[in-house]
Amino acid sequence: MLTGKKVFLIIAGGISAYKCLDLIRRLREQGASVRCCLTENAKEFVTPLSVAALSQGPVYTDQFSLKDESEMSHIELSRQSDILVVAPATADVMAKMAAGLADQLATTLLLATDKPVLIAPAMNLRMWLHAATQANLATLKSRGIHVVGPNDGAMACNEFGPGRMAEAPEIMAAIDAVLNPRRPLSGRHIVVTSGPTVEPIDPVRIIANRSSGKQGHAIAAALAALGARVTLVSGPTALPDPEGVDVVRIETAREMLAACQAALPAAAAVCAAAVADWGVKAPAGQKMKKSPGAPPPAIELIPNPDILATLAAPGAARPGLVVGFAAETENLIEHAREKRARKGCDWILANDVSAAAGTFGGETNRVHLITADACEPWPVLDKRAVAQRLADRIAEALS
Ligand code: C5P
Repeated sequence: MLTGKKVFLIIAGGISAYKCLDLIRRLREQGASVRCCLTENAKEFVTPLSVAALSQGPVYTDQFSLKDESEMSHIELSRQSDILVVAPATADVMAKMAAGLADQLATTLLLATDKPVLIAPAMNLRMWLHAATQANLATLKSRGIHVVGPNDGAMACNEFGPGRMAEAPEIMAAIDAVLNPRRPLSGRHIVVTSGPTVEPIDPVRIIANRSSGKQGHAIAAALAALGARVTLVSGPTALPDPEGVDVVRIETAREMLAACQAALPAAAAVCAAAVADWGVKAPAGQKMKKSPGAPPPAIELIPNPDILATLAAPGAARPGLVVGFAAETENLIEHAREKRARKGCDWILANDVSAAAGTFGGETNRVHLITADACEPWPVLDKRAVAQRLADRIAEALS
């Protein structure tokens, strides 16, 4: 598992810093080598001497140590390990990471590294729940920083709630997951649709919708992280292309269908795009002009192809598993069940897009997974967590 892995542990100044001594011991027992850096504040909680004794190596603390610098530069130090682990990650160090500060050795290394970074937050529950910390957490996650914990429980400050640092075995499992990612979908091709489609009225005007593409892009990224070859067919969004995914950019529903069909065969298809139900029958070749007193133009719409239903239709090219979404504002489950049957897909993820739920463009999603014989409510989750859960379920179904 962790044999031969090089872990660089950054210990920040929180009361749970003492737990790192146990973490270092266990990591070494598993065959990992551990190098450590203490933040300025951490030295108030654990001594460099204990850390050095357990890690059996140098302990770095000083940004401007001539001795350390002559042996190894900060940049080299930040890159010679397989992973950087920040435990405990205090509210302060998370804020510094989010802001990109390099005010001491620990933060400089975190800014200079090109290696994966895992943080194990630990702090008082009000500090954890504070909007500033949650915003910093979201920023760090969006940059691909891995997070383990915090756990719920009694805290050193006599309060109870989220904020306890994850236990050493959990941190080790998280390190293992980052360094030895599971690839259960390797060799599988999966088509994902995402974003809105836009339907031209004339060369400058369009019919569009509010889909951000966040959910579909997160699904593509999660499937790729499990080893799938992913073709992401996406309408216009402001999002960067997910790493390791083939992106086909389209505008209209017809282009989206053609791109999906061109990408087949596929083991699975996930239709997360908000496809316009209607396109304009005859888009004007030139910009439509308004003239004083003339009535506004009538725009004749025609139905767009249903991409999900088309991909789910029986036939040799049908992907083995076809998953759709049902965005509903009322009678969520009933409408979604009916939609699953009508479209012929295997699973539907039903989500509430009423204004109160804040799903469109928001960060979270509350979905129900509806299959032929079950309706499974999922908790409110970050869109990336929904994607992760769906990717895991797809991997299970295809195994
Ligand atoms: O019919 P409705 O738009 O509510 O269905 C939602 C599901 O169907 C989503 O998975 C969406 O991506 C898919 N869909 C599609 N092509 C359409 C309309 C919807 O793939 N033309």
